[in-house]
Amino acid sequence: MAATEVRAYAKLNLSLDVLGKRPDGYHDMRMVMQTVGVTDTLRLETGTGQPLRMESNLGFLPANEHNLAAAAALRLCEAAGVDHGGLSIRLDKTIPVCAGLAGGSADAAAVLRGLNGLLGLGLTGTRLEEIGALVGSDVPYCVRGGTALAEGRGEILTDLPALPSCLVVLCKPAFSVSTPELFRTLDGCRIRRRPDTAGLLTALGQGDLVGVARRMYNVFEDALPPRRAQEIDAIKNLMIQHGALGASMSGTGPTVFGLFESRTGAESAFAALREQYPETFLTQTVGNLLEQV
Ligand code: C5P
Repeated sequence: MAATEVRAYAKLNLSLDVLGKRPDGYHDMRMVMQTVGVTDTLRLETGTGQPLRMESNLGFLPANEHNLAAAAALRLCEAAGVDHGGLSIRLDKTIPVCAGLAGGSADAAAVLRGLNGLLGLGLTGTRLEEIGALVGSDVPYCVRGGTALAEGRGEILTDLPALPSCLVVLCKPAFSVSTPELFRTLDGCRIRRRPDTAGLLTALGQGDLVGVARRMYNVFEDALPPRRAQEIDAIKNLMIQHGALGASMSGTGPTVFGLFESRTGAESAFAALREQYPETFLTQTVGNLLEQV
């Protein structure tokens, strides 16, 4: 038997634009992605001689191949033509679930990186990303991490200059959002405002954190029911009042995040939000994950 422990990192969308619906039912996206230090931990064990075993600290998560972590393991072994000899996955979640932080995709990506090492497969990052695309649209980015532009379904990745390191406050309101439903709502409405992705990319190239933060925007904010949108706005406003350089919603939400240069500001925003929202985090940006292996 062999075992390893790997970390899965949450992602944020510094910007998110939906360009249109595709014939395959998916949407063409243009998103600037950023990894942050809110993590899940996965313990992987191979050669157990038992059928696939998947367990987690959250009883409501699927404990079989419907969990993206297990699905990724099976896809990886299939693609590499190897037998894991009995696999056990223990998942300890901290990344909020159904929150716009790609938590499930991050777990899948961590399994791909971890098993690649544990089974000595020697697959390249690019190959792991290709296998990840079979598991979910956000998985390829989660394999790579760092600051990147994601296009197509989310699987066409371009590395970007790293976001200047800063503090990040994340706050997940108590409601959940269905991703397919929000895409459907967006299909039925006119997108009134779009992020200035080109301007954001220029600001990244100049290492201009304030310029990035000012341009952050997510088109899904416009597709939320009015009461939900008000709650998102209130959290964003609170972050700005406490000194955030900018604040936005991540993915299909509902998590809101703010970027801070000042630790005092980040800590006071964190403390104020934590009173009302237990799933509030104070963390920092994280760079490319493949380079860290
Ligand atoms: O690829 P994934 O399984 O993560 O996507 C979940 C759902 O999100 C899809 O079934 C689809 O409804 C929606 N989606 C989309 N366009 C994308 C990514 C996801 O419509 N680019």
